[in-house]
Amino acid sequence: MLRLPGLIDPHVHVREPGATHKEDWTTATAAALAGGFTAILAMPNTSPPVTDAAALETALGAARAKARCDYAQYFGATAANAEAIAPLASRAAGLKMYLNQTYGTLRLDDTAAWHAHFRLWPRTAPLVVHAERHTLAAAILFAALYDRPVHIAHVSRREEILLIRAAKARGLPVTCEVTPHHLFLTADDAPRIGPGRSEVRPVLASPADRQALWDNLEVIDCFATDHAPHTLAEKDSPQPPPGFPGLETALPLLLTAVQEGRLTPNALITRMHTNPRRIFGLPPQPETWVEVDENARWEIPLRGWQTRADWSPFAGMQVIGRVRRVVLRGQTVYADGKVLASPGSGKPLRGR
Ligand code: DOR
Ligand code: ZN
Repeated sequence: MLRLPGLIDPHVHVREPGATHKEDWTTATAAALAGGFTAILAMPNTSPPVTDAAALETALGAARAKARCDYAQYFGATAANAEAIAPLASRAAGLKMYLNQTYGTLRLDDTAAWHAHFRLWPRTAPLVVHAERHTLAAAILFAALYDRPVHIAHVSRREEILLIRAAKARGLPVTCEVTPHHLFLTADDAPRIGPGRSEVRPVLASPADRQALWDNLEVIDCFATDHAPHTLAEKDSPQPPPGFPGLETALPLLLTAVQEGRLTPNALITRMHTNPRRIFGLPPQPETWVEVDENARWEIPLRGWQTRADWSPFAGMQVIGRVRRVVLRGQTVYADGKVLASPGSGKPLRGR
């Protein structure tokens, strides 16, 4: 048995409010615990999106009643809300700025709208950007112009990890995360996964892009799932929404990489606990750990998950390593395939 600290996922789409047929606070946090995550940070592209104090209260109210692991909720940036939300920064996981098109309505294309957020959002509060390709270069420029930390979500391409490497070498305050799907899948897997099911943003990249992520592991601060549940009916529809469930498969995939000698256990703990805790300024979770059978071999199934979306783009892949037990603040919250934590037992990670 391998014992890990409680994992932290800084990038989860919970879907409540607005799309609880895909996921809600109860099922998202059940999936988190089953995957070894004891803390999640929830993205703001809900409906309505979390762009003001009232929407933050709505999301946190649902979390308070239903969450089974610890949590915080992001604000989403709009062209008009910088002044209103900056004073509430301490109540949020951070600020998320969508600088490229993705699922939902939050998109800030015009860089003129970025300034107010970079100026007003507190330097000590996390600022996360969805920024791809040239937009990433622009986001790094803003980190330099405003001399404030910026965390880059789901880096997927060679050109992006090389930009971040160069920014870090220059001493710029930039950190980043990579998803398991960009580390373990490429566009070559799309036919097997299916045309609608393989839709995700950023898109699945080339084998050379994936290799560049592994070759630049030291540039990657965090592994984050970007757990983005949509139902199979939606994924198989004529207009499939982008996104993959990922909370329950991240650790087995990464433990398999450990078994294969592509990653050390310490490198995994750094990216799934230590760095997310530091970058997002999260409190310690006392008496919290994850017990893993690092030799358990299994095949990832399509169905049978805790997430309400109940499917996986990794179905059919062989993995080595399985979560056996999760202890959160002294309580066994997951054991042998069963989630034992009751809805509402999760605690907010930010003061209210
Ligand atoms: O594929 C994605 N799905 N990428 C995102 O950035 C958003 C997410 C979602 O919310 O479904
Ligand atoms: Zn996301």
